[in-house]
Amino acid sequence: MDVLADPTLLKQHCQTWRTQGLTIALVPTMGFLHAGHLSLLDHARSVADRLVLSIFVNPTQFGPNEDLDRYPRDLPRDLELAAAHGVDLAFAPEADAMYHPDHATWVDVPELGAGLCGASRPGHFRGVCTVVTKLFGLVRPDLAVFGQKDWQQLAIIRRMARDLELGVEIVGRPIFREPDGLAMSSRNVYLTPEEREEAPAIRQGLALVQEAVRSGELDVTRLGLMFRSHLAEKLSGSRVDYAAFVHPEALSPKACVDAPTLLAVAVFLSRVRLIDNILLEV
Ligand code: PAF
Repeated sequence: MDVLADPTLLKQHCQTWRTQGLTIALVPTMGFLHAGHLSLLDHARSVADRLVLSIFVNPTQFGPNEDLDRYPRDLPRDLELAAAHGVDLAFAPEADAMYHPDHATWVDVPELGAGLCGASRPGHFRGVCTVVTKLFGLVRPDLAVFGQKDWQQLAIIRRMARDLELGVEIVGRPIFREPDGLAMSSRNVYLTPEEREEAPAIRQGLALVQEAVRSGELDVTRLGLMFRSHLAEKLSGSRVDYAAFVHPEALSPKACVDAPTLLAVAVFLSRVRLIDNILLEV
């Protein structure tokens, strides 16, 4: 496995593969890999000739009061895992290699990025879209693989790739969960042991709503209340940032679960913000 920090070398490497007629898959990450990331790598490995993993804690997608400085990092361990999962090239740049001092161009999909996580993290998706576009420009992958835990991110990147004709197939992969149901996330390490024990209540709340929908309750106000009261009961110190019923692609609010509807939630456990979602089946 090659490890590169220089964007120009990454570009050259990928260009050589393309001239050899090889297909390239890209898995963009911020590192501190967990089993969810590894499942993305395994999928990507199985569908392309060459696999590129990017590990970059992208500063432009963090707000001023967010966890950029304390975001968990462990590059040596990430590289070991990457090699074991068949990565051909790991790209781990420094921030100043990715952004020129006079960087002035931004990619944004405000229609999809203003609500849900975008409402409490202004500018977040602009940072994500910009760095992902840069990675696509460097690697020019045939496909790029993202997790469905960040459903809004995935929907935005899909739309961006379509609207800008980026020529990349965007692949979404199912949420990877701990045995007790908590969605895997690098930020789970921030949880205290007590919070970690209670956190699966988020997933249970989603499952409860799914059950209610199957039993014929389709009104999102009542379903939303059901989710919120479950959390209030099971997760003592929690605060629901949002629990939104939206169209899975347009991310527009829905009044009724009459067709596939995404229930997307963000919940604060003290200072840790966890997200999860479920695609409700009627
Ligand atoms: O999902 C993430 O880890 C990041 O938002 C991404 C897509 C790697 C962009 O920095």
